[in-house]
Amino acid sequence: MQVTEVKSKTGLPRHFLNTQDWSWSELCALLDHARELKENPIQPLLNGKSVALVFFNPSLRTRASFDIGATQLGGHAVVLEPGGSSWEMAFGEGEVMDGAAEEHAKEAARVLSKYCDIIALRAFPKFRDWSVDRRDLVLTAFATHASVPVINMETITHPCQELAHLMALREYFGTDDLKGKKYVLTWTYHPKPLNTAVANSAAMIATRAGMDVTLLCPDERYLLDERYMGFATQNAEDTGGSFEVSHDIEAAYDGADIVYAKSWGAIPFFGNWEAEKPIRDANKHFIVDEQKMARTNNACFSHCLPARRNIKATDAVMDSPNSLIIEEAENRLHVQKALMTTVAGTKV
Ligand code: CP
Repeated sequence: MQVTEVKSKTGLPRHFLNTQDWSWSELCALLDHARELKENPIQPLLNGKSVALVFFNPSLRTRASFDIGATQLGGHAVVLEPGGSSWEMAFGEGEVMDGAAEEHAKEAARVLSKYCDIIALRAFPKFRDWSVDRRDLVLTAFATHASVPVINMETITHPCQELAHLMALREYFGTDDLKGKKYVLTWTYHPKPLNTAVANSAAMIATRAGMDVTLLCPDERYLLDERYMGFATQNAEDTGGSFEVSHDIEAAYDGADIVYAKSWGAIPFFGNWEAEKPIRDANKHFIVDEQKMARTNNACFSHCLPARRNIKATDAVMDSPNSLIIEEAENRLHVQKALMTTVAGTKV
């Protein structure tokens, strides 16, 4: 197979930081290519290419699927864990590095750009101050200083998960047109406050696909950041779908076609999680169970994984024929292969 490299029109690297930065037709092209790669997984599209996978946080799916995906396309992946097996890293502009960090992202991004053709990065919020976390400083530093494309492997959004989720829904319903589907994004209990990234992403991609989206959460304190509420609202307006908030479990589940579950920490309590705990503990009944699913239009269920069984969703829901959890996780491999070839400019 002859692989021709296509340079970006601007000469600048084409980062994949957030799906909102990519047009709908570009996202659909990625999914079309992912479908081809699912059919024919071994192709030399990344021959001689290297990908740095920089993990500030743990992973099973993301790490395995990027590494194996690069290998299946003839490329090579190197995993780096700042603060673990590689140097702890600072990333603040003008930072006086008198703490534990030995290296700044300015150097790390530029050095890795000399070795690699793509840098992919996972950096979760610190959970102390959302006004800082929402600036996505690690990803922004790498995107600013790298001279190769940067892929977001989950920071305050999880765009690769969005693609895999959308691909799984298209496969399940047997159509690329999901307009008119009733989509419920439900908060669930979890003993610890978790990242809002997947919820932000689900709200964005479901509205982008023109579905009628309900964000179900215990109360106003669990609303997503205004940036992502705004994207979801605007997307719904643009596509003719809808985006609404509900705190009524039964009404939200009634007639749903899709139930997507995720737990997240309430933004007003960042840095004050002890105060959030009683509120969280009072909402264990948000678990996705058979009784709630029985109210739906025989809905499919999914979750990004990892998921605590019988805490977020019951065994019966996780293992039901309508559960897409494994299909969605599988699709991470296919969509990320499509993504790597696209940003590397080697898609034929
Ligand atoms: N869904 C997801 O990103 O899984 P990992 O955290 O295991 O990578």
